[in-house]
Amino acid sequence: CGIVGYIGTEDAKEILLKGLEKLEYRGYDSAGIAVRNGEDVRVYKEKGRIAELRKVVDSSFETSTGIGHTRWATHGVPNHVNSHPHQSESERFTLVHNGVIENYEQLKKEYLSDVTFKSDTDTEIIVQLVEHFAKEGMATEEAFVAVLKLLHGSYALGLLDKENPDVIYVAKNKSPLLVGLGEGFNVIASDAMAMLQVTDTYVELVDGEIVLVTKDSVTIKDVEGNVIERAPYKAEIDASDIEKGTYAHYMLKEIHEQPGVMRKIIQEYQDADGALKVDADIIQAVRQVDRIYIVACGTSYNAGLVGKEYLEKWAKVPTEVHVASEFVYNMPLLSEKPLFIFISQSGETADSRAVLVAVKELGHTALTITNVPGSTLSREADHTLILHAGPEIAVASTKAYTAQIAVLAILAQVVAKDAGHEADIDLLPELAKVTAAITTVVDDAPRMEEIAREFLATTRNAFFIGRTMDYYVGVEGSLKLKEISYIQAEGFAGGELKHGTIALIEEGTPVIALATQEAVNLSIRGNVKEVVARGANPCIITMSGLEQEGDTYVIPAVHEMLAPLVSVVTTQLIAYYAALHRDCDVDKPRNLAKSVTVE
Ligand code: G6P
Repeated sequence: CGIVGYIGTEDAKEILLKGLEKLEYRGYDSAGIAVRNGEDVRVYKEKGRIAELRKVVDSSFETSTGIGHTRWATHGVPNHVNSHPHQSESERFTLVHNGVIENYEQLKKEYLSDVTFKSDTDTEIIVQLVEHFAKEGMATEEAFVAVLKLLHGSYALGLLDKENPDVIYVAKNKSPLLVGLGEGFNVIASDAMAMLQVTDTYVELVDGEIVLVTKDSVTIKDVEGNVIERAPYKAEIDASDIEKGTYAHYMLKEIHEQPGVMRKIIQEYQDADGALKVDADIIQAVRQVDRIYIVACGTSYNAGLVGKEYLEKWAKVPTEVHVASEFVYNMPLLSEKPLFIFISQSGETADSRAVLVAVKELGHTALTITNVPGSTLSREADHTLILHAGPEIAVASTKAYTAQIAVLAILAQVVAKDAGHEADIDLLPELAKVTAAITTVVDDAPRMEEIAREFLATTRNAFFIGRTMDYYVGVEGSLKLKEISYIQAEGFAGGELKHGTIALIEEGTPVIALATQEAVNLSIRGNVKEVVARGANPCIITMSGLEQEGDTYVIPAVHEMLAPLVSVVTTQLIAYYAALHRDCDVDKPRNLAKSVTVE
């Protein structure tokens, strides 16, 4: 979910709606705004996209203050009633909330048994509680603080009070929230991108703080009520980076940006003498440990699988890769000197953050690899490596995945060199080759479209197989395909399919085989024969030098260890075109959100 707020002199409706459009990547099950003119507070909400919300907003209502919300449903189905903003019983207070309140049922029983609720959400509890304390005679700020003290869980909150119309009351705990500063106005937003339209100057908030935002002032207070002074910073995002330009979808634009991202990474991680460079502190952090634990979710987890190979084979540090949501409840037996590497495009994923908080409490060192400088996971870790991929807007991650792999490769090589391990790769020129090879693949997009049509136009399922590095790409390729085209897809280790899942192969079932690794080229082709014998329709993606007659697509030759950076781009494009053929909403697939800030 994402929230925005504006208090100033301009038309708040338009600023909030534009802000929410930029936050749609955080969820698009429903959206709403509350705007006020004096004591007249109007709430507009609608199921579905911001475009739907726009239709129900009364454009003639004059207003220069408001709050807004775009929702990824957690408590309560995505419908009108459960959409934010929520109001208290008397409608004096109006609230937007991002996060999850864990003890909401208990609070409801304890304090609000005589209140009639309109929705099933945890958020409504918060706003009803504020009214409960206000009725007991507390001033609004006092009531707000009293409520915050009772809440267990995560929240970013924006609250309007009819009786104090010149203030937006704001608070944050574990969910991201920024205050943006302007001349004669101020804003709040889950992400700077949302409000770049009006300001590039932001102040970060710390968990537990509350903020009183008026059109001319921003007052930050800590839990004890002490006023905090904090210098603002300039958000370094170019507004044009977040536009689609001439591309039909953000996803296609971001796939095409990958050669540029590779070049940018090569440039950012190179010193004046043309050698790879990473902060000495980070190199030391990796060299001092006996084991690395990579923790991530989704596509970032899949990038971690490839990164593990670099860290073990080049840097020679044993490495495990873990799904964050599992790790937090079932921590493995840790080694004596562990290092945690968090991989997260957004730097905001709640599941990953929960692990970061837990391992910091245990006193361990953490490195975050993220695309967003200043994100929560970056701020709270000891070290950060930036992906330099530029804003990724499409929900399905593409350029962040390849950037994550490239940065992990650089890290592993720099550590290997520092430790004096012999290198079997000269990474910089090899990354340059990768850049050229990705360019070839994206230029071949029309061929990918044909492949998508031939293999995936009507199928209900598809399998990806590969061995070693190709297996990891298959896992990512299948995730991309299912995310955006809703084709049931799975990635398997080539040798494993026959141990059960081969039962699903029928006449015509597409099996996309990746064959870019010389040592397993023959064995993966053996696996292809096994499925073909059972009726599968094989699509073989191989690398120049390893091709055989009948292969579907041949990527240019690159160093084998870096082949995932190129072969994955074929799977991204194939997924893109498959989704397009099926009339799916490529950039905003159903049920998903780009940044999931709830556990
Ligand atoms: C969400 C997105 C995925 C993403 C995952 C991790 O579920 O839909 O595409 O891979 O979160 O996000 P992160 O920002 O931590 O990389």
